[in-house]
Amino acid sequence: MKFFTIDQLDQINEGEEKPARYAVIGNPVAHSLSPQLHQPALDALDQDARYIRVEVEIGKVSEAFEKMHAAGIEGINVTVPHKLEALEACHKVDPAAASMGAVNTIVFDHEGKRTGFNTDGPGFARAIREEFGVDLGDLKVIIVGAGGGAGRAIATQCVLENCPQIILVNRTLEKIEGMMEDLLRLGQPETLEGPRDRISTIALDDTGLEEAIAASELIINTTSVGLKSVDPSPFPSHWVEPHHLVYDTIYNPERTRLLRDAESHSARVANGLSLLIHQGALSLEYWLNQDAPISEMRKGVLETIKG
Ligand SMILES: NC(=O)c1ccc[n+]([C@@H]2O[C@H](COP(=O)([O-])OP(=O)(O)OC[C@H]3O[C@@H](n4cnc5c(N)ncnc54)[C@H](OP(=O)(O)O)[C@@H]3O)[C@@H](O)[C@H]2O)c1
Repeated sequence: MKFFTIDQLDQINEGEEKPARYAVIGNPVAHSLSPQLHQPALDALDQDARYIRVEVEIGKVSEAFEKMHAAGIEGINVTVPHKLEALEACHKVDPAAASMGAVNTIVFDHEGKRTGFNTDGPGFARAIREEFGVDLGDLKVIIVGAGGGAGRAIATQCVLENCPQIILVNRTLEKIEGMMEDLLRLGQPETLEGPRDRISTIALDDTGLEEAIAASELIINTTSVGLKSVDPSPFPSHWVEPHHLVYDTIYNPERTRLLRDAESHSARVANGLSLLIHQGALSLEYWLNQDAPISEMRKGVLETIKG
């Protein structure tokens, strides 16, 4: 079964050896790689558990959470378009997730009350450490596509990590201007040194973008430009220089035009597979309270992408 609907939750264990205990909700959800990421990890950890997909209509997230918990589901991932609705359907929300305006992980307590977390931001920080051997908080970053869901989560993480420079770039400038005010309100003054001096916004077509890129150390693409193999780079990729680290959140195709061009300019590059894996690993850690088997997760998802 590719996915269940909330009206089919009484069938999730029919003919199965292991009970469904974890799930991803989305709409559509059939394409989600979460089962390929989580099932190998659950198996490696000897968990008597299956990971399933559940398709949920917009407006029905709260109802889905209740019915899924009643059906024996203990932990839930949330994907597009439900991350905001999921936040609103939680009894408690982690403060970082609230700042990101989105929840991608649900943990139930013993009374069935839901706490929401967002593992995209912390997962990104782990991905940067793994890929480039540096701490995100030490880097001057520029986020191209900061107005989208992934861009906002990463921008929030950059503020929480005290990055010395955070430049938000978006095609639609209004989206990041509104977001910047939220980012400036983040955290406590004692942990965030002068965020107003460190965060700025610029439109994707602004003539100052070349200079902003030159002044950055880590360039992050969080636009959807590159998802099709014929897509161009979201900005002129000859602006990339050898001192840059370039992270494209897209992992399929494995090498976007941006990454191919950046590599040819001798920059160090990485694709979004590490983000996918680490955000999933953090969800699993919330549910099971133990370290996730990263290599099993990577193997599971790579087999699907390459197959
Ligand atoms: N590796 C992972 O685990 C992971 C996780 C989540 C997302 N992602 C990737 O992150 C990207 C964004 O996902 P999302 O969920 O954040 O999507 P989203 O909320 O729809 O945001 C899309 C972003 O792309 C920009 N954009 C779209 N078309 C564009 C174009 N033709 N030119 C310039 N900018 C354009 C949008 O700009 P406007 O605001 O101007 O429309 C917005 O900033 C996708 O490629 C997705 O695959 C990866």
